[in-house]
Amino acid sequence: MKILGIETSCDETAASMVNDRGEILSNIIYSQLVHHAPFGGVVPEIAARAHLEKIDEVVTQALHQANLTFAEVDAVAATAGPGLIGGVIVGLMTGKAIAAARNIPFLAINHLEGHALTARLTNKVSFPYLLLLISGGHTQILIVENVNQYQQLGKTLDDAMGEAFDKTAKMLGLDFPGGPSVEKMARIGKIGVFSLPRPLKGRIGCDFSFSGLKTAVRHVIQALPPSQIKSVDTSNLCAEFQLAVSDVVADRTQNAIDIFGKAFPSGKTLVAAGGVAANLELRKRLSILAEQNGMKFVAPPTHLCTDNGAMIAWAGIERLRLGFVDNLDFSPRPRWSLVSDPKKTGKRS
Ligand code: KG4
Ligand code: ZN
Repeated sequence: MKILGIETSCDETAASMVNDRGEILSNIIYSQLVHHAPFGGVVPEIAARAHLEKIDEVVTQALHQANLTFAEVDAVAATAGPGLIGGVIVGLMTGKAIAAARNIPFLAINHLEGHALTARLTNKVSFPYLLLLISGGHTQILIVENVNQYQQLGKTLDDAMGEAFDKTAKMLGLDFPGGPSVEKMARIGKIGVFSLPRPLKGRIGCDFSFSGLKTAVRHVIQALPPSQIKSVDTSNLCAEFQLAVSDVVADRTQNAIDIFGKAFPSGKTLVAAGGVAANLELRKRLSILAEQNGMKFVAPPTHLCTDNGAMIAWAGIERLRLGFVDNLDFSPRPRWSLVSDPKKTGKRS
């Protein structure tokens, strides 16, 4: 079985062909970065228009790279939310149109489930596993019991982790998206030069909070000589910021590991997914933490941590295998929680 996956929920127009053996036959990602960079963030209307302009070409390329035609596509999966509604509509309508024209199964995918199941595509991880889902719009710790079956242990109370990276980068005048820029600067920076808080560290539970950290970064910047911030200050601040985030992640994840271990003694895998999981420092830290707890740490290759069509195609395959399929009147969902998913109605009896 070969399935087409379409992803348009943020600023990547992406399409991919994946087969049920977990082989990625093509993976086309058109990044809208140049459109949004002048604004220092994703502009929803610009994103929607760019998706509309590129989607046909990206889908055509995905088929071409896989050396397939529409006639050889067995099912279509498209992101139906959560995300920027204009972009979601573009991808969802495209997916539905292809499925309708070919009369093949259609799957409306929760973008977060795409991230959550990627480690099964890339590393054949088995259920249950503990998942740190960290992206530009979401920060959650979940127990993944099965496809469509998630338990949330913690979430951010304010900003998402990726957002904290992006805002820090913006304050420092670094390129958008901020995560990779901050990581690059942090590599040459010294820790301990600046002092930043570790919000919620040492508290019970698995929630996160980043707004205080963001404010602390702003105060540090404001206290620097107003003329201009030297590059050495920028790199030192990025290094400290990244360490602060890593400290918090290690602390919150340890609490989650304790809960997960009690509930699922057989579960021995810690997975990181979402754009921020591309951060190598964070991956190192999580890998050490997993080892200390007798667990294995898994994170998809960095290009499959950020948004892509392969993760949507794979979530489609996983759902289709269990008999889930969606109607063509499935509405786009700007907000869509993984935990209270009413979408079980999509299951064939
Ligand atoms: O998963 P994703 O591509 O889109 C969403 O679903 O949000 O994640 C994008 C986020 C952005 O905030 C970006 O700055 C962050 O992931 N990111 C990183 C890195 N690469 C991407 N954050 C930290 N370090 C990175 N290397
Ligand atoms: Zn994402």
